[in-house]
Amino acid sequence: AFEPTNIIVTGGCGFIGSNFVHHVVREHPKTHVTVLDKLTYAGNPGNIAGLPADRVELVVGDVCDAELLGRVVPGHDAIVHFAAESHNDNSILDPSPFVRTNVEGTYQLLEACRAHDVRYHHVSTDEVYGDLALDDPARFTPESPYRPSSPYSSTKASSDLLVRAWHRTYGVRATISNCSNNYGPYQHVEKFIPRQVTNVLCGVRPKLYGDGANVRDWIHTEDHSRAVWEILTRGRIGETYLIGADGERSNLDVLRAILERMGRSPDDFDWVRDRPGHDRRYAIDWSKLHDELGWEPVHTDFSEGLDQTIAWYADHRDWWEGAKEATEAKYAKQGQ
Ligand code: NAD
Ligand code: DAU
Repeated sequence: AFEPTNIIVTGGCGFIGSNFVHHVVREHPKTHVTVLDKLTYAGNPGNIAGLPADRVELVVGDVCDAELLGRVVPGHDAIVHFAAESHNDNSILDPSPFVRTNVEGTYQLLEACRAHDVRYHHVSTDEVYGDLALDDPARFTPESPYRPSSPYSSTKASSDLLVRAWHRTYGVRATISNCSNNYGPYQHVEKFIPRQVTNVLCGVRPKLYGDGANVRDWIHTEDHSRAVWEILTRGRIGETYLIGADGERSNLDVLRAILERMGRSPDDFDWVRDRPGHDRRYAIDWSKLHDELGWEPVHTDFSEGLDQTIAWYADHRDWWEGAKEATEAKYAKQGQ
């Protein structure tokens, strides 16, 4: 196995990246983490505050900044690339930062890995495969065709293709993972579960898009972190692994579970305008990850994970209250 001692985690102040940094500090004591994060609206240095200073260093900067990468990358043995513009609704309003950070940023990181012979792991999404019909028995596999629907997912698909080309043409030691919808602590209040939980905590009615029948395949972010580490250290170079946890649920079911667990009536929410181009269903076949690397999800009780997540938001009002108002003002303008 490859045992990295000095890794760069881009986007380590965001939701999944910061959970990954906590995971590495806790589980892999020989590894030092340099977090490279631009601290956009989605990045919060508080997410990694309190971690030991000899284990984690924060470099504030942009993954598109080639000169900065030329200074920071040498001396590291791997880059795990989480940084992205990540929210579909934002990408519909203004795609430009998505093209820049997700496509140009990945290009600059690949060039830095090529120049300094650094191992690269690319964190991507199941949305690159487009969507499935509700009644289709199929799930996404690493062989599924690329068919992205939104500006967000098309930029993630573009970045995946750059990674494949840089591996094949230049021999960059790269792997890719495509994961389904994450939930857990530190997720921005713009996203579905935190938005609805914090709405209830603020006495505001949750908002459901369209007919609420869209299906997402939920995975706890801690299971995602463990899978990324396994792929980084034991995955086959040049391969793509899908990460999921058999967590398919309709948005209506998830919302009703939140309402029930927070002591509200199951109908205490508003139906709002649908997302343009809204993907119907995602579903992941993660058998390759299991068969090759022995990984399997641990947080398989969704109700328990949801209870812990609700409790985290109830206990961390200071963490989200600042972002809540601006987020809701943006949604209100779009009738959502
Ligand atoms: P997030 O929006 O919570 O965090 C993104 C982080 O990247 C922030 O800290 C932000 O400051 C940083 N960032 C943005 N632009 C940057 C730039 N140009 N340079 C440096 N840093 C920059 O995102 P997330 O939900 O944690 O997603 C992380 C990654 O995982 C993304 O690549 C996303 O596509 C992928 N992913 C997310 C999910 C999900 O359910 N959220 C599922 C599968 C894959
Ligand atoms: O599948 C992985 C993807 O999951 C990641 O690549 C993205 O970065 C991540 O944001 C997420 O994308 P989604 O678009 O699936 O997540 P979001 O939380 O925005 O929405 C989940 C579902 O809930 C989706 O069908 C839209 C719906 N929704 C969302 C919001 C914010 C609502 O019904 N109401 C809402 O208020």
